[in-house]
Amino acid sequence: MATPTYELNDGNTLPAIGFGTYPLRGDEGVAAIRSAIEVGYRLVDTAVNYGNESEVGEAIRQSGLPRDELRVTSKIPGRHHGYDDAVRSTHESLERLGLEYLDLHLIHWPNPRLGRYAEAWSALVDLQKEGLVRSIGVSNFSPEHLERIIDDSGVTPAVNQVELHPYFPQAVMRDVNEGYGIRTESWSPLGKRQAPFTEGPVAGAAERYGVTPGQVILRWQVQLGAIPIPKSATPERQRQNLDVFGFELTAEEVAAISGLGRADGRLFGGDPDTHEEM
Ligand SMILES: NC(=O)c1ccc[n+]([C@@H]2O[C@H](COP(=O)([O-])OP(=O)(O)OC[C@H]3O[C@@H](n4cnc5c(N)ncnc54)[C@H](OP(=O)(O)O)[C@@H]3O)[C@@H](O)[C@H]2O)c1
Repeated sequence: MATPTYELNDGNTLPAIGFGTYPLRGDEGVAAIRSAIEVGYRLVDTAVNYGNESEVGEAIRQSGLPRDELRVTSKIPGRHHGYDDAVRSTHESLERLGLEYLDLHLIHWPNPRLGRYAEAWSALVDLQKEGLVRSIGVSNFSPEHLERIIDDSGVTPAVNQVELHPYFPQAVMRDVNEGYGIRTESWSPLGKRQAPFTEGPVAGAAERYGVTPGQVILRWQVQLGAIPIPKSATPERQRQNLDVFGFELTAEEVAAISGLGRADGRLFGGDPDTHEEM
């Protein structure tokens, strides 16, 4: 079944599900990313700090897919937040990827202690005008960080990629994003190593619909209106994770999965107000 797409606030489009590439590297990484494209993913998520932009570029070339059929995301690291650094960082990402433009480029973390994310944002605004980046967005931004850059620049991000899984459903952040017309993307969408596959609301729905617990969680993401970017190195799971458009959870089932959320449900304490990632 074809993956639906969303129109972003800048008129560009993104598929309703994408492929996460961390920590896929080397020849095995290229093979896994190429396999993801071959099984049907059309949105691929990388970052400078994943150290695998070259692998992503190689997998894209090997796939033979026309460039305009793919959406490629990368992210600017904290150490490149100065305006000139952010511009240089973007050129270097494009070089490593072997691409002429990025479909989506994000500020990876706000690093508020460093206090330069607004500079990185103004670089992204200019890079979009130049056409090197089609859509611009942020990752791990809190309501305060969003307000700051929108007030500063008058430009609203197209996407905010945040930690989002059943133990951390991000109700407030999803509402704030929606209020701005920002599409939420979900990192660690399955919950990574702490995936709640055996929790009642997940396992029960899996049994009712004859799907896997992973598919239930990704379907929950889709019904929240968030774009999940699950990572898997195995073609079979890649295929499974993409195949979530042939069944629908009830509103009660969606609420029950959201009910697994906990105040301290973050995977590694990655609070954007305090977490530093350079
Ligand atoms: N913006 C940010 O700050 C940020 C932070 C973290 C991650 N990310 C992005 O988000 C992407 C996804 O997050 P993530 O990799 O942390 O977590 P995830 O996608 O929730 O989980 C990945 C793990 O789940 C396993 N898995 C995948 N599909 C499965 C299935 N159907 N059944 C059982 N296990 C399954 C994978 O193992 P196998 O490979 O063996 O299948 C892998 O160990 C990353 O790759 C990265 O692109 C962004």
